[in-house]
Amino acid sequence: MIHKDIRNGQDILSADEDYADLSEYFLIHDFKRIFLVCAPYIVKLPLYRKIKSMEENGRIFITSYQDFTPNPADTDAERGRELFEHSPHDLLMAIGGGSSIDVAKYIRCSFPEIPFLAVPTTAGTGSESTGFAVIYHNDEKQSLSNPACLPSAVLFDPSSLLSLPVYQKASTMMDALCHAMESCWCVNSNEESLSLSREAMRKIFAHKDGYLLNRPEDNAGMLQAANLAGHAINLTKTTAGHAMCYHLTKLYGLPHGHAAALCVNVVFPYMLAHPEKISDPRGLPALERAYDIIAEEFGVSSPDEAASAFSRILGSLSLGSPDRAQIGDNDIALLTGTVNPERLQNHPLKFSEEDFACLYKQLLFGSGNTNHENSD
Ligand SMILES: [Fe+2]
Repeated sequence: MIHKDIRNGQDILSADEDYADLSEYFLIHDFKRIFLVCAPYIVKLPLYRKIKSMEENGRIFITSYQDFTPNPADTDAERGRELFEHSPHDLLMAIGGGSSIDVAKYIRCSFPEIPFLAVPTTAGTGSESTGFAVIYHNDEKQSLSNPACLPSAVLFDPSSLLSLPVYQKASTMMDALCHAMESCWCVNSNEESLSLSREAMRKIFAHKDGYLLNRPEDNAGMLQAANLAGHAINLTKTTAGHAMCYHLTKLYGLPHGHAAALCVNVVFPYMLAHPEKISDPRGLPALERAYDIIAEEFGVSSPDEAASAFSRILGSLSLGSPDRAQIGDNDIALLTGTVNPERLQNHPLKFSEEDFACLYKQLLFGSGNTNHENSD
């Protein structure tokens, strides 16, 4: 049964009973011409076979756009937009991880009236529930923030997670956990976002082991967890962990979730060690409450133990620091100079350039004076 998410008005579709919700969704809206943004690998998914069979039966016509890379460039997204512009379509549909949904979001910004169905094929980004996208211009990350970025409908299909490599599952799961934690301590947090972060963390820990073992019910649970974390950052935005992580992807080729987790792994203990740097206008009690929520959801008795537990999770997933051989002489300065200042405004503590240099040093070389356990 299709239902509405009362938080943002999205139509929520499930993949049960051979995609009965999807058939109903196409039927009630009379969608016939589908513009599909996807990566080539989706041909392996049961969902793809379903929509291809609908096409073969003459029920729908599909134009598919796949001409973009992970971390999509604006030039590729623009070509997709032009293709969309030149032929009429009833529905914009994206099937994939962050990149496909981001390209579709870019297109939707020019056609905000077109219905937009997103199908996340990883449990991590939560992109299906946010009003922002990440598109690269000349290799530099650009954030797109526009209400049209929010899909009007979402299909949750846990079967799409079955064929993912464990490393990718671990990395995307950690992205979701970082979203939940960063949203929790963000200066923009409120009761609603805190309850979303809390629920996201609870589900991540409840489903983590089964998800890594590829149990269908836990894949479904992790999709929900990542979605809740997406809702949380849609309200608050992310903080220093995400502000620091983008150039790690660029320099060392680390997937986004892996890079974000390495950053949170050094940021969290550093925050705990430096309460005097508080800049959240609500003061330390708000931040301490966030720490307590995190500790509670981690199932430990103090924020310091939560930071250690986070490190242990990274270690257990083999999400280590970049290889020393990859690290250039000037990398600390390079990374420190590229921290995203916009996201830093959301961080509850004021970090200077020296702070970031220290954090990157810890991240890359495991040195420094925090109490976290080195994960490499
Ligand atoms: Fe993220």
